[in-house]
Order: sequence, then structure tokens, then C-alpha cells
Amino acid sequence: MEIRRLQENDHELLASALWLLIPESERGSVASHAYLKQALGCKNCYFLLCLVDSTPVGYLSAFRFPAVENTSFQVYLYDIVVDARFRRKGIGTRMIEELKKCCIEDQVSRIWVGTSLDNEAAKRAFEITGARKVRETYIEYIYDLDEGA
Ligand SMILES: CC(C)(COP(=O)(O)OP(=O)(O)OC[C@H]1O[C@@H](n2cnc3c(N)ncnc32)[C@H](O)[C@@H]1OP(=O)(O)O)[C@@H](O)C(=O)NCCC(=O)NCCS
Repeated sequence: MEIRRLQENDHELLASALWLLIPESERGSVASHAYLKQALGCKNCYFLLCLVDSTPVGYLSAFRFPAVENTSFQVYLYDIVVDARFRRKGIGTRMIEELKKCCIEDQVSRIWVGTSLDNEAAKRAFEITGARKVRETYIEYIYDLDEGA
């Protein structure tokens, strides 16, 4: 088992991880390799995979931004998913620990993540990797900027 942060030329691996691990309902249209390469080349993007025999079984994405009100960099842990057949084997927590390592190297002061109130697996994975619960209610909104385009 290998956990690694993807680099610019790993676009094929990222494409196969998205195909294997992200539910069809959440995937939207298939991203081109050029688009994935651009995302992988962005220093503010963290894409981590867990590979077993070269096959992606875990995926994590996170994004860094400057919190200008206190001059620190923060990271939003946007997505984490482990293949259902490989859950409860420590893969989720290992990917989070790897993200923490990358963030410490990049002088990030805080990682921020949210999940639904009933997602026991995610809550446990965040707590045992050292996250502190700050709130228990949250409503999510989206601006669909491409609607009607
Ligand atoms: C959340 C998720 C990534 C965790 O990955 P994982 O590899 O199974 O996590 P780990 O094996 O590292 O387990 C972390 C902890 O959570 C616990 N855990 C895992 N699944 C659990 C469940 N269904 N209920 C309660 N605890 C659970 C584990 O036992 C472990 O705690 P422990 O060491 O005290 O036993 C995985 O369940 C998943 O892919 N879920 C679907 C996608 C999702 O909901 N992502 C989160 C969106 S915010």
C-alpha cells in the first residue's frame, strides 16, 4: 500500500481514481487530461491517492488559500473517499496524515473540513487525526454560475 501526492504528470492516474472512486452522480462531465494536468500543476491543490497494487483505492483533495485577515495559509479538505472494500483499514486516516505533512511543509496554519452530522466514519477519521470540532450545525448553499450559459 502506498500513499502519495500526485504530480503534474500523474493526470492519467488521477483520471482513473476519479472514475473508480467518485460516484457517478457527483462526477459530472469527464474532465479532459489537459484540465487535470493543469489542476495537478497548481501548487495550491493537493491530490493524494492510496494505491494498492497500483490501483487507486483512496482519494483526497484539498485546496490552499491565504486567509488575509490573519496572514496565514489555510487548507480546505474538500473530498476524501475510500473504496468501500478497503474501508476501516486505516487508509482514510493515513491520507489525512499525509495531507497534514504536506501542509506543515507549506507553512499552512490550519486545515478546515466539514461533513454531515450523521457521517460517523468521517467524523471519527477527522477526530483521530487530531481535528477539533468547532460547530455542529451547518447549512450549505451553492451559486450555480454556469446555469443558463
Ligand atoms: C470517511 C472515510 C473516508 C473513512 O475512510 P477509512 O479508510 O474507512 O477510515 P479509517 O480506516 O482510517 O478509519 C478511521 C476511524 O473511523 C472509524 N470508522 C470507519 N468507518 C466507520 C463507521 N462506518 N462508523 C464508525 N466508525 C468508523 C474507524 O474505526 C477508525 O477509528 P478507530 O481507529 O478508532 O477504529 C470512508 O468511510 C469513506 O470513503 N466514506 C464515504 C465517503 C465520505 O463520506 N467521505 C467523507 C466526506 S466529508
